[in-house]
Amino acid sequence: MKLKKSLCLITAAIMTLVMMTSCGSDANRPESAIDEAAPSLCEAFKDYFKVGAAINSWDLSDENSDKYKLITKHFNTFVMENETKADHMHPQENTYNFDATDKLCEYAEKTGATVRGHCLVWHSQWPGWIFKDGSEEASADLVVERMKEHITTIVTHYKGRIDTWDVVNEVLDGGGMRFSDWLKIVGDYDGDGDKYDFIEIAFRTAREADPDARLIINDYSLETDTNKAIKMYNMCKQMMSEGVPVDGVGLQMHIGIDLDVEQARENIKILSKLKEYNPDFVIEVTELDMSCFSWGDNSTTIDFKKIEDQFNEKYCEVFEMFMDLSEEGLLDSVVFWGFNDGNSWLNGTPEGRVNHPFLIDADLNFKSAFWEVTELPAKRK
Ligand code: G3I
Repeated sequence: MKLKKSLCLITAAIMTLVMMTSCGSDANRPESAIDEAAPSLCEAFKDYFKVGAAINSWDLSDENSDKYKLITKHFNTFVMENETKADHMHPQENTYNFDATDKLCEYAEKTGATVRGHCLVWHSQWPGWIFKDGSEEASADLVVERMKEHITTIVTHYKGRIDTWDVVNEVLDGGGMRFSDWLKIVGDYDGDGDKYDFIEIAFRTAREADPDARLIINDYSLETDTNKAIKMYNMCKQMMSEGVPVDGVGLQMHIGIDLDVEQARENIKILSKLKEYNPDFVIEVTELDMSCFSWGDNSTTIDFKKIEDQFNEKYCEVFEMFMDLSEEGLLDSVVFWGFNDGNSWLNGTPEGRVNHPFLIDADLNFKSAFWEVTELPAKRK
């Protein structure tokens, strides 16, 4: 009886010690994401993939600012959220604004990071002039000529500095090819029966301008919409078998807290079969964020504490999948579409919404998800 009591006391003491140690380690964790003692997100995943963020040029304007320190500590690849897009970079036929993206390239060269270019051809954030000839709609020849000039000028300017381009963005919608001005005007330009021509010309032009750059076709919902993933596969398969230089598919991954990760794995499996047509084919995650609101929920605020565990679990599941894909040689870059909860396109959509999509909060402090995610690589070893 005495022995049993002693054993119970010893067990209780050990349990208390374990709890104290783990609470202690949680309590000792730095709060601020720029704390030098804290682990770095990109360092944690260095054996798997680069970890990046979409930023804006003003994030780089002061080397002593917290944001500058934060992005330098946690990310090793970057993309401009808006300033490489045509409406900023090529607002008029003879006007190019390279300043903002040049600044990012200089920063990357200084810090050893890489840069993605987003994006060369898109239906949105495109200045109207490209599709106009005076007051008339421009001809297919004129649009193709302007598109080639646009791509050649930009890719040549960044040759050797931007190593990956989203050559075309969002050319599919749920039903098939998106009915954009590109599709409407350029259409079946070579008369071979398909309307992939503006995409094919865009990829060939980019390859010619910088043979070493990785060329990506970027789109959304590929991880949730199997039909769309199949359409992407079929389109790429046809283009790649005709020698169009598509090096990979970019999954934007604007995901929701209710993402079905098994479904995402299945859809990615479909796309990964494109390796058959290009042994260097990759998947890139290009615009990762996780909305805390379920699909169809239009409310503007949410009590994050109530969903924190679910949020953390989903982020971990998603990063486990990324590590698996990296081990299969399919994925080497994961880029967040922002870097802290305070600055995300998800805030304000719908109007007034406050979302919490990242691993770092709006005060630039770590969320518990940061710790759970950064611990994953070590747990795997
Ligand atoms: O620059 C103008 C400014 O001059 C003007 O005063 C202000 C008034 O609204 O608008 C500013 O432009 C805004 C621009 O962001 C820069 O802040 C546009 O209105 C706004 O529509 C634009 O939104 C961007 C959106 O793409 C455009 O479609 C978001 O910041 C950007 O996060 C978002 O990124 C896209 C990716 O490129 C493609 N995938 C989806 C992703 C999220 O929508």
